[in-house]
Amino acid sequence: MVSLKCLFTGIILCLTNPLAHAQNIGRKIKINPYHYTIQKDAEGKNGMVVCAHTLAAKVGMDILMQGGNAVDAAIAVQLALAVVYPGAGNLGGGGFMVARFGDGKRIALDFREVAPAGATEDMYVDKKTGEANLQLSQEGHLACGVPGTVAGLFAAMKYAKLPFEKLIRPAIALADKGFVISEREANALNSTADEFRKNNTSLPVFVRQGGWKAGDTLVQKELARTLTRIQRDGAKGFYEGETAKMIVDEMKNSGGIISFADLKNYKFEERVPDEFDYRGYHIITMPLPGSGGVLLHQMLKMLEARPIASYGFHTAKSVQLITEVERRAYADRSEYLGDPDFIKVPVKTLVSDTYLKERMADYDSAHASMSAAIKPGYIKESDQTTHLSIIDKDGNCVSVTTTLNGTYGSKCVVAGAGFLLNNEMDDFSVQPGVPNQYGAVGGEANAIAPHKRMLSSMSPTIVLKDDKPFMVVGTPGGTTIITSVLQSIINVVDFGMNAHDAVNEPKFHHQWLPDQIDVEKDFPADVCRQLQDMGYKINERKPWSHTELIKLKGGTLYEAAADKRGDDDAEGY
Ligand code: GLY
Repeated sequence: MVSLKCLFTGIILCLTNPLAHAQNIGRKIKINPYHYTIQKDAEGKNGMVVCAHTLAAKVGMDILMQGGNAVDAAIAVQLALAVVYPGAGNLGGGGFMVARFGDGKRIALDFREVAPAGATEDMYVDKKTGEANLQLSQEGHLACGVPGTVAGLFAAMKYAKLPFEKLIRPAIALADKGFVISEREANALNSTADEFRKNNTSLPVFVRQGGWKAGDTLVQKELARTLTRIQRDGAKGFYEGETAKMIVDEMKNSGGIISFADLKNYKFEERVPDEFDYRGYHIITMPLPGSGGVLLHQMLKMLEARPIASYGFHTAKSVQLITEVERRAYADRSEYLGDPDFIKVPVKTLVSDTYLKERMADYDSAHASMSAAIKPGYIKESDQTTHLSIIDKDGNCVSVTTTLNGTYGSKCVVAGAGFLLNNEMDDFSVQPGVPNQYGAVGGEANAIAPHKRMLSSMSPTIVLKDDKPFMVVGTPGGTTIITSVLQSIINVVDFGMNAHDAVNEPKFHHQWLPDQIDVEKDFPADVCRQLQDMGYKINERKPWSHTELIKLKGGTLYEAAADKRGDDDAEGY
């Protein structure tokens, strides 16, 4: 039974089960995977966890209360999400972690997938027609990049306090004993059933005869065994041995190209976070191959030159300005950004004051600018990626975004190993000018090459004020990730919102191409009409992003908001 409770009620105590073992600060969390309550908002002084699923959020809170730090909690939450949130939580994908520790140190871990050694620039281009076959880059075994998530979790262990063996235990129990699924998960699994059937030689556990309904129990024995191998053998339990053999067999049986060498040679990277100031706040975010760092830096600096707060929240004037800033930044994304280990990206120039001033020189506050007219893109609604924000009692902040790319990734479950593989190859520019599943177009900078990382929009971000943690934020949503994080920051810094409103107010999005402003259904209609009068095309879409935001409320009290758009959950103590 899953119910929704939109009020902060403190830690929820449920029935006993094998997951329950926490005891700290005079409290005990007992996590009941068969009966849980979704909590959208939370407050606390000692630790906050907000992520895409209640059970994973409670696992994180349990780890914090047992004396684990924010990194311990992030590792445990990510592993739990790989079980309870199969659409995006993952072992078979990749991601980014940005952290800022209580002693001031900051890190940016890059565990993005890479193209297999056998990948080629034109691997999705039909030799006869010369056209890109997007079906192949978006679904099935050829769409899979070499997964990075497990390597990323072990890279993060350098900053953890508790043993990995303990952090993975709740995930193993959730997979082995099962958990009840929500209506949203049941619907998502049912609507993907045909794709699961098409892309797997044996029927995966995600397909249920007669369909799923809310309250059914999802048990994942094969996944539990994979997690147990990782618990026993570390990263080798995934990248070598039995699990690697299952992945490679899966590839051989179904036309994929990931090899034993690809898996064994996968390497995470420690990068230098992108950092800059915005109106007295300090932003720490993900650098390339995440495009969020460069784009947030560009957009916030273009906005900083104008008094947006005085334009008002969701007025035609403020929305138009943000739109024009987004248009210019996304145009640069398409031309210049890619894996910095493969191409030279002029980051310093792209974020320089002179360049950004020039970029806005043709901005007209009364009329829409025009994006160059090339093949229009199509943005598919999707919950492909997932984010978790955590802060602990020592002020350690961790912001992690991971992804399978499309919902349930490639739809391919590794036979015998029970986890889904990503379809991240579609985040490359499969052919210059051809939009990917998010409608984003790219060029040579993001072309496919062996071992290269595909450009990402994932933007795990931390905001400091007076050198102290102020906000931890991030979201899924493909190319909308960056504009959602941008709007969360502006909503707080410029429009003075609390965490709940900053996350839940209706959003809008412009990404240069297609040349349109996407708006959520509840976006104010009169603002849309005024924007249309200025020459903008308005495109109404289903809600997007699941933003997970923690913000300093005042003094030493934090507030967390889990996005209303999903089953997301916030916990605090
Ligand atoms: N797959 C979504 C992203 O990395 O941007």
